[in-house]
Amino acid sequence: MTRNFYTSPKQFLKHLVVILSISCLGSCIETDTITKGLVIEDPETIVSSGKIYRLGFFSPANTTNRYIGIWNNVSDTSIVWVANRDKPLVNNSIGAITVSEDGNIVLMNPEKEIIWSSNVSNSSRNTSAQLLDTGNLVLRDNSNGRVIWESFRHPADAFVPTMKITDNINTGEKVTLTSWRTLENPDFGDFSAGLQALSIPQVFIWNGSRPHWRSGPWNGLILTGVTDMYAVYLDGYSVTRDNNGTVSFTRAYYGDLLMKVILKPNGSFIQTMWDEAKRDWNVTWFAPIDACDVYGVCGNFGSCNLRNSPMCSCLKGYEPVNKKEWDKGNWRDGCVRSSSLQCDRNDNSSDKSRVDRFSKLTNVKVPDFIEVSQGMRDECENMCLQNCSCIAYSHDTGIGCMFWRDNLTDVRQYPSGGSDLYVRVAYSVLGAKRKFKPVPYGKPEEAFTSDSNEIILRDDMDGVSFDDLPLYSFEILANATEQFATANLLGKGGFGPVYKGKLANGKEIAVKRLSRTSGQGLQEFMNEVVVISKLQHRNLVSLLGCCVQKEEKMLIYEFMVNGSLDVLLFDPTIRTLDWRKRFNIMEGIGRGLLYLHRDSRLRIIHRDLKPSNVLLDENWNPKISDFGMARIFGAREDQANTARVAGTYGYMSPEYAMGGIFSEKSDVFSFGVIVLEIISGIRNTSFYDDEMALSLLEHVWKLWSEGNFEALIDERISSPSFQAEIIHLPVPEQPAFAKKPSSQSQTTSSSNNVSITVLDGR
Ligand SMILES: *[C@@H]1O[C@H](CO)[C@@H](O)[C@H](O)[C@H]1NC(C)=O
Ligand SMILES: *[C@@H]1O[C@H](CO)[C@@H](O)[C@H](O)[C@H]1NC(C)=O
Ligand SMILES: *[C@@H]1O[C@H](CO)[C@@H](O)[C@H](O)[C@H]1NC(C)=O
Ligand SMILES: *[C@@H]1O[C@H](CO)[C@@H](O)[C@H](O)[C@H]1NC(C)=O
Ligand SMILES: *[C@@H]1O[C@H](CO)[C@@H](O)[C@H](O)[C@H]1NC(C)=O
Ligand SMILES: *[C@@H]1O[C@H](CO)[C@@H](O)[C@H](O)[C@H]1NC(C)=O
Ligand SMILES: *[C@@H]1O[C@H](CO)[C@@H](O)[C@H](O)[C@H]1NC(C)=O
Ligand SMILES: *[C@@H]1O[C@H](CO)[C@@H](O)[C@H](O)[C@H]1NC(C)=O
Ligand SMILES: *[C@@H]1O[C@H](CO)[C@@H](O)[C@H](O)[C@H]1NC(C)=O
Ligand SMILES: *[C@@H]1O[C@H](CO)[C@@H](O)[C@H](O)[C@H]1NC(C)=O
Ligand SMILES: *[C@@H]1O[C@H](CO)[C@@H](O)[C@H](O)[C@H]1NC(C)=O
Ligand SMILES: *[C@@H]1O[C@H](CO)[C@@H](O)[C@H](O)[C@H]1NC(C)=O
Repeated sequence: MTRNFYTSPKQFLKHLVVILSISCLGSCIETDTITKGLVIEDPETIVSSGKIYRLGFFSPANTTNRYIGIWNNVSDTSIVWVANRDKPLVNNSIGAITVSEDGNIVLMNPEKEIIWSSNVSNSSRNTSAQLLDTGNLVLRDNSNGRVIWESFRHPADAFVPTMKITDNINTGEKVTLTSWRTLENPDFGDFSAGLQALSIPQVFIWNGSRPHWRSGPWNGLILTGVTDMYAVYLDGYSVTRDNNGTVSFTRAYYGDLLMKVILKPNGSFIQTMWDEAKRDWNVTWFAPIDACDVYGVCGNFGSCNLRNSPMCSCLKGYEPVNKKEWDKGNWRDGCVRSSSLQCDRNDNSSDKSRVDRFSKLTNVKVPDFIEVSQGMRDECENMCLQNCSCIAYSHDTGIGCMFWRDNLTDVRQYPSGGSDLYVRVAYSVLGAKRKFKPVPYGKPEEAFTSDSNEIILRDDMDGVSFDDLPLYSFEILANATEQFATANLLGKGGFGPVYKGKLANGKEIAVKRLSRTSGQGLQEFMNEVVVISKLQHRNLVSLLGCCVQKEEKMLIYEFMVNGSLDVLLFDPTIRTLDWRKRFNIMEGIGRGLLYLHRDSRLRIIHRDLKPSNVLLDENWNPKISDFGMARIFGAREDQANTARVAGTYGYMSPEYAMGGIFSEKSDVFSFGVIVLEIISGIRNTSFYDDEMALSLLEHVWKLWSEGNFEALIDERISSPSFQAEIIHLPVPEQPAFAKKPSSQSQTTSSSNNVSITVLDGR
């Protein structure tokens, strides 16, 4: 399917109507459904209602065997499901699919013998099968609409959005993928892939019963061993748990992308996305990514790093089990501990200074067989020290403390990304505890990243962890911004001026500098670091690094070529934002918000969403910025109350502006205002200057009530064809209007309408 652009606001609103009145409206032609009596005979096909997937017969390359399959309508070589994998119709014989007397989906050969069946034993006899736009073939009981069988619960080698890969922690029952035997034979191959949910969810590829690849633990946002998960193509994944112990790994369906992950016959995962322009599939991710990614290549207590030669080495405090074999490159036997730990000794030594130490390994995929315990980063070490069977620990904000006993298996090191692993070693291995020696600012350690301007700051500032956040020195930033020249000033953010800069390597950046005088600013600076450094989404601006040096505190972002939305939207002389771009922008902000509220485990309320905080990249993709006021919500929290109402009038929901109550709904309110501003091209707050003193919301409501909604649409995007059409929407309720208070205190305000208004709550 191609990206679905709405060619006019009218069309968009019409689509909204369809979404709102979700039913079929009588236009569903039954070509996506097989009912009893309907026989689909080779080469006939059925197609899902949105023409996304097709079900029918196919032959793989170089064979005359016929199979029932489901494939993307765009290309018939992209098979995502096969029914009769090990029971082909041979010699091009003509088969037929139907719903049989006993209510099952069946495949019949020319002799009308059933050679494959969905095999639901107690199915009601009144059923029908439907091919959905997700690629799922569902068999329903017509009397109650219940799904009694679905192809998604019996996958072949493909994972597609909304499919669930599951593992039940009570019964061990799994839904897994199984590779084809060869590229030409869909029969069950050697490799399978699925979720292992016990302890902490990880995705595995197995070769027979042996692990072949492991994703590393799920931390609520990403699979920590899949460094590519920070890339735009890998968002939307989630892990959920139901009451019966079934843990599911799935990916949201955004409706705009055809994507699939195939488990190939050689045991590789390949994710592809359809590129309509090229009319071909783009490979967007694969695993294992390299030789180090293969499960346990370096054996127990070994660690793999592709930059080293040989790539395998023993962890600190360990030595090869069989030195001769190890030196020959046979690493499978792994390593053993070379000197005993404090716990192993029986000397009851009271010399506390001789306790075991921990050797730190950065950027790793943490070992398999994880045990988890709640705890803060600085608590994990002691918890591990106090337990003699603990041989290593790690910490992830989304997981807590992770511990290992018995063995350390499948450790690999990445050039960047991954986690820190602390391996317990005897006192003698590291010697006396060394004081941490800070990396001198501006003197990059070449081992860290390819960008030579970056160094990693390992420091804590009032509990804010700067772990893994690249640090830029003041000198480099001053140089990049030409000593913070006024000519490079991009604007003012929540807590200080923002400058454009250019690094020595040519990369353009935006530098937000905390004003030295701003007391409130420091808190917002920290907040922004905490919130955004852990989040990655194509519709959120990404933080490249920071600078904390002497009095200076600065944040470094990717530079957005097309500036902020408010400039383009509210300047009537700028006509670059056509309807298509505007629609994209609304969609993108919505997605970014959805990620903050739902898809990121943290649940973040932005609290200051407005057009000046929406930046546009070179492709006009919107990116939400400025997280100075964002709040992280706990899983059970639905709303919070604050004594300090902070935000911008016009975008604050009434209950927040007046009562200090904020929740996801506060952001949704702001989003609604932005949508109206995007459609109208009018700044909500500009109305306050008007004699009538109506807000945009009141104005919209007035136009709506008068049946004159078309008058709202920005003349820069409206078209005659738009005017002519009529639309029907459900009648909205009159909104509550938040009026600008006249006498409350405003600590900051500026003439350019990008003000942060702070007033004291009651
Ligand atoms: C089909 O056979 C031809 C010739 O033997 C070979 O070149 C081709 O790779 C095969 N196709 C596949 C998908 O294996
Ligand atoms: C589906 O495929 C058919 C032919 O295979 C093509 O004519 C049709 O345009 C396709 N529909 C979409 C929505 O891609
Ligand atoms: C397929 O057809 C050929 C010739 O038509 C025949 O020799 C062969 O036995 C058939 N194979 C099977 C498995 O039926
Ligand atoms: C359906 O059941 C039959 C008989 O128990 C079995 O041979 C066949 O493999 C089953 N088919 C599927 C698709 O599970
Ligand atoms: C068939 O039986 C299984 C277990 O025996 C049950 O879980 C399922 O709900 C039943 N299906 C129908 C359609 O009655
Ligand atoms: C099947 O169920 C539907 C819906 O309940 C009903 O309208 C239809 O008459 C049933 N058909 C048969 C053959 O029982
Ligand atoms: C899968 O396992 C078999 C033996 O069980 C082995 O021969 C083969 O090399 C393995 N495949 C891969 C890709 O590791
Ligand atoms: C959990 O199991 C109960 C009883 O077996 C069943 O009624 C319920 O539908 C199941 N819930 C889910 C989410 O599968
Ligand atoms: C596995 O096969 C796919 C093609 O089917 C190929 O792209 C990939 O490189 C292969 N992976 C390995 C590790 O050989
Ligand atoms: C596919 O890749 C090309 C370049 O390799 C890129 O321009 C295009 O945007 C990609 N398409 C998708 C849908 O990812
Ligand atoms: C490693 O330890 C886990 C449990 O801690 C155990 O299940 C597994 O078999 C061990 N593997 C090896 C190779 O010793
Ligand atoms: C500052 O910029 C100049 C010219 O762009 C460059 O030669 C110099 O090395 C830079 N200094 C630092 C500290 O990056």
